[in-house]
Amino acid sequence: MKTRWYKDAVFYQIYPRSFCDSNGDGIGDIRGIISKLDYLKELGVNAVWLSPVYKSPNFDNGYDISNYREINPEFGTMEDFKEMLDGMHERGIKLVMDLVVNHSSDEHYWFQESKKSKDNPYRDYYIWRKGRGKNGKKPPNNWTSRFTGNAWTYDETTEEWYLHLFTKKQPDLNWDNPKVRQEVVDICNFWFEMGVDGFRCDVITYISKAEGLPDGKGLPILRGDEHFVLGPNIHKYLNEINQKSWSKYDTLIVGEAIGTTHKEAQSIIAEDRNELDSAITFELVQVDFKWDFLPLKFNLKKFKAVQAGWQNLPQNCFPTLYYENHDQPRSITRYGNGFGIYRKELGKMLAVSYFMLRGTPYVYQGQEIGMTNIYLKEEEYIDVMARQVFGTMRKVFPPLMPFARWAMSKRARDHARTPMQWSAAPGAGFTDGTPWMKINPNHGDINVHAEMKNSNSIWHFYKKLIEFRKNNEIIRDGEYIDHAPNNKSIFCFERKLGDVRYVVICNFKEKTVAFNDVYKIGAKGAKLIISNYDNAQNEILGDGITLKPYEVAVFEYGNSASKRII
Ligand code: NOJ
Repeated sequence: MKTRWYKDAVFYQIYPRSFCDSNGDGIGDIRGIISKLDYLKELGVNAVWLSPVYKSPNFDNGYDISNYREINPEFGTMEDFKEMLDGMHERGIKLVMDLVVNHSSDEHYWFQESKKSKDNPYRDYYIWRKGRGKNGKKPPNNWTSRFTGNAWTYDETTEEWYLHLFTKKQPDLNWDNPKVRQEVVDICNFWFEMGVDGFRCDVITYISKAEGLPDGKGLPILRGDEHFVLGPNIHKYLNEINQKSWSKYDTLIVGEAIGTTHKEAQSIIAEDRNELDSAITFELVQVDFKWDFLPLKFNLKKFKAVQAGWQNLPQNCFPTLYYENHDQPRSITRYGNGFGIYRKELGKMLAVSYFMLRGTPYVYQGQEIGMTNIYLKEEEYIDVMARQVFGTMRKVFPPLMPFARWAMSKRARDHARTPMQWSAAPGAGFTDGTPWMKINPNHGDINVHAEMKNSNSIWHFYKKLIEFRKNNEIIRDGEYIDHAPNNKSIFCFERKLGDVRYVVICNFKEKTVAFNDVYKIGAKGAKLIISNYDNAQNEILGDGITLKPYEVAVFEYGNSASKRII
């Protein structure tokens, strides 16, 4: 029976490589996570999404799995894993793992076999095709990899090409093969039997490819989408895994819904469809980026329109709320001036701006202390996405290299992957050794130790907000109304259930802004319950309100016992 526990959960995402290193090799590990379980409990989260810890050659930092039932030795052992899982459960924290099954690593046994010969029993585990052109030396179609470049690689042994929507070390699995789907069922059940509480399904919207793999339209950037995003058999396949595995345990199955809008995502997350429980939207993080790597000017109106789309989905669809993860730049330097004097106010405002929405919120490691993007020289970027962008640009049009560097300074995934800043110590409390990736030099000022000591910090604000949100019916089930969809500075929305209303007003500008329309909401007398300023207006009056830089205010209406809680 599904209890749908995730509707009252607050998630914390751990990117294990960068979280905490227990053995001084410079790489975060499971024993490091174990040492921080009390920290998570103190913050108040009750679920963790753990990025991959499986055996992997790490070409894409674990999103290229070579054994789905083993722990990568650099992270520890299966015993360590079980201890971590028990430790989480003892503290009332659920564990959701990453399930990366659109593709595997090319070092997986299945692929090693598959490439040996055309009649190998594993041949059809992957998508092999003859090439086009003379001697078949041109790729079978014109699809491009999500990280730029061709989506096909030629293999000499059998003189055929295999498909990889990501890097060539990540061959796409052939979901049309029932044996592959059975493997997925078995992998899920293996981890559920161990006690794992769910999966975040990596690029799950890509698993079904159009028959005949036709050419895609448009520019050679992310080309081919129309033939594999929510492809022809997606519902059948998700339904099958759901029936054979996911529905048999009390799980959360959240899919990374890359390439889909809120309207399309409904078809895979509505409760009665028995496919996924929720979807991680890309619509929001694409408001200020095109094709995943071209920075655009942040547009608050578009941002609100996307939020409204997801918030107004029917009640049988439950959204996922997030600003950050291991693929996204840091929100505090993305949606505002996270290096400025109002850094603290901004971090708190952003927290409220998504925690008060309907859905399950995720906090990405370091977000709770306002970690920022990092400045890197071109050669310091490690991530395969940035490396491929630089490589392709250098090959295709070198004069645009400065542009590529600028784009990566805003967008590279490296920004999210710098080691967690636990303290001001040389290794930031993350490691005693040499960190696998550069530590942000600002860890002297921005670190967990300092944040926990200061009761007015972003960290303490998150802790209180997490507590406030838990089991809050208004936030979980309440109606959503956007009161200022066209305002370019203010995000003002209401959550309403029965007679009680929360009016949330966020100033997205680093300056004082007057919001004169507040009286139109008809909530005169509503009392301030949450604010990021000490001297805030404590009630909605009969006229407008003036908000200080990045000020946020939550007013409660219809409850005589309202009092300021943060
Ligand atoms: C999405 C993951 O979040 C990202 O890190 C990875 O590179 C791709 N999927 C491919 O697995």
